[in-house]
Amino acid sequence: IKQIRTTHLAQAKQDGTHFAMLTAYDQYMAEIFDAAGIETLLVGDSAANNVLGHRTTLPITLDQMITFSAAVVRSTTRAMVIADMPFGSYEVSPEQAVASGIRLLKEAGVAAVKMEGGEFYAPHIEAMTAAGVPVMAHIGFTPQSENTLGGYRVQGRGDEAAADMVKTAQTLEAAGAFGLLMEMVPTSVANAVDEALTIPTVGIGAGPGTTGQVLVWQDMLGLRGGRMAKFVKQYANLRPIVEQAARDFHKEVVSGAFPDEATSFSS
Ligand code: KIV
Ligand code: NA
Repeated sequence: IKQIRTTHLAQAKQDGTHFAMLTAYDQYMAEIFDAAGIETLLVGDSAANNVLGHRTTLPITLDQMITFSAAVVRSTTRAMVIADMPFGSYEVSPEQAVASGIRLLKEAGVAAVKMEGGEFYAPHIEAMTAAGVPVMAHIGFTPQSENTLGGYRVQGRGDEAAADMVKTAQTLEAAGAFGLLMEMVPTSVANAVDEALTIPTVGIGAGPGTTGQVLVWQDMLGLRGGRMAKFVKQYANLRPIVEQAARDFHKEVVSGAFPDEATSFSS
């Protein structure tokens, strides 16, 4: 496959196979993940709290998302690049959502967008899809709504909430979503949602039953320090490696060991 498209993700769901997704926000990470065979790169609004130094995802703007997304698209040949619709860029109306989605496709070149929210956004998804903007829905824990959800917590626990989640997912699929991401959802509920849908699902803290799995790269590679969420698996521990290299550089600059002859120009 030269270039991953929505059709390949749909095929994975049909075949019962899995695909991977990692966040990416810049050139080299996009290049590396693309070369590693990661099928989908998500330019997450988590750039707010992984690149820009914000505490939440809420402050990042559409213009900033376009800058990060364009960098990832330019640095990718095979992976499908999906950009998050940032807080404030779609809620007001289907028209606002269409306009913002078009900017991400037109100015950044992404293949699709991801959008947080439930049944309220079915008309938005329908209008965007009709306009040529493929939408991956995002339900369960939705970080942009942390202020109404009352913080980071598992969603869909209990029979009623689980049934609601299945119904919401079916509504968003019927509206035209090409995929559905679930965040922090009990495995049994995520499986019920996946089984109720024909479109591919992506999970983060949603168990092994979804079609795809996504992690934030700074968590997955151990660049971010501090406590990790339960759903994070660290496949590398970059932070101490980077810190030690910086300490070594600092020491050699202070001592005069760097630069030496090999790293200096002769006359
Ligand atoms: O912004 C983000 O990183 C996400 C997660 C689902 C990975 O939306
Ligand atoms: Na996000």
